[in-house]
Amino acid sequence: MSWKKRIAEAAVARLSTYDRALDELDRGGMEIISSDELGERVGYSAAQIRKDLSCFGEFGKVGTGYYVKNLKEAISQILGINRTWNVALVGAGNLGSALLAYPGFRKRGFGIVAVFDNDLRKIGKKWENVILQDVSEMPEKIKEQDIQIGIIAVPAKVAQQIADMLVLSGIRAILNFAPARILVPDGVELHAADFSTELERLSYFLTNEAAIRTEALEKGKVANGKEDKTRESPHYHQD
Ligand code: NAI
Repeated sequence: MSWKKRIAEAAVARLSTYDRALDELDRGGMEIISSDELGERVGYSAAQIRKDLSCFGEFGKVGTGYYVKNLKEAISQILGINRTWNVALVGAGNLGSALLAYPGFRKRGFGIVAVFDNDLRKIGKKWENVILQDVSEMPEKIKEQDIQIGIIAVPAKVAQQIADMLVLSGIRAILNFAPARILVPDGVELHAADFSTELERLSYFLTNEAAIRTEALEKGKVANGKEDKTRESPHYHQD
């Protein structure tokens, strides 16, 4: 099976977690790691890790483990982060400026190289080494600056219009922060990021905690009331 085959979103998220852990191990000088050890670090079972990686080929040696550098490089290649991606941010408001100021995206290979807005008071100003540009110039600037990813951080009422402009400019990957339902044509990947939804998931948990815990107990997820302090215990979990 070719690793170009589309894999589940959850597996992509796990690969991203493995990649970050391997990066840390590599920088710490570790050369080889077993799937058990990697599993302990990232919070997934060794079987899950082997299953995820088996989709893409042979990486480890039975009884030896994985070569940290090789596996990290392979995962980076699969995720497409062994290169840099030029990103355009549309909307230089509260959210846009926070995203622009965060250095972590560039470290992971995502450089916000262009910021567009329609506010004349902002256009032409320099923020974090990027000059804010007029949104009307977006199509040509996106081509000129070889931009592949667009981030939408404008008010919801104009989000569709901005998405259309991004698509017309040749963008095929969009991350939308605006609370609006956006439609894009086939061949364009659209992802939504929404802190409010995540907070609502947490408020749902707090509001319905008792019922959720009872259900977990019934499913046998919570061990019979004993305090087990180890992270392998059923009292610990991740998303
Ligand atoms: P803001 O009002 O501070 O910034 C919006 C920016 O978009 C302004 O600079 C404005 O001039 C610009 N803008 C407006 N119309 C435009 C157009 N047609 N073309 C280009 N630029 C345009 O708003 P804020 O607080 O930064 O929020 C931005 C968006 O992100 C909103 O839709 C908000 O609901 C959403 N948001 C989403 C979050 C999430 O977790 N998904 C969290 C925070 C905000």
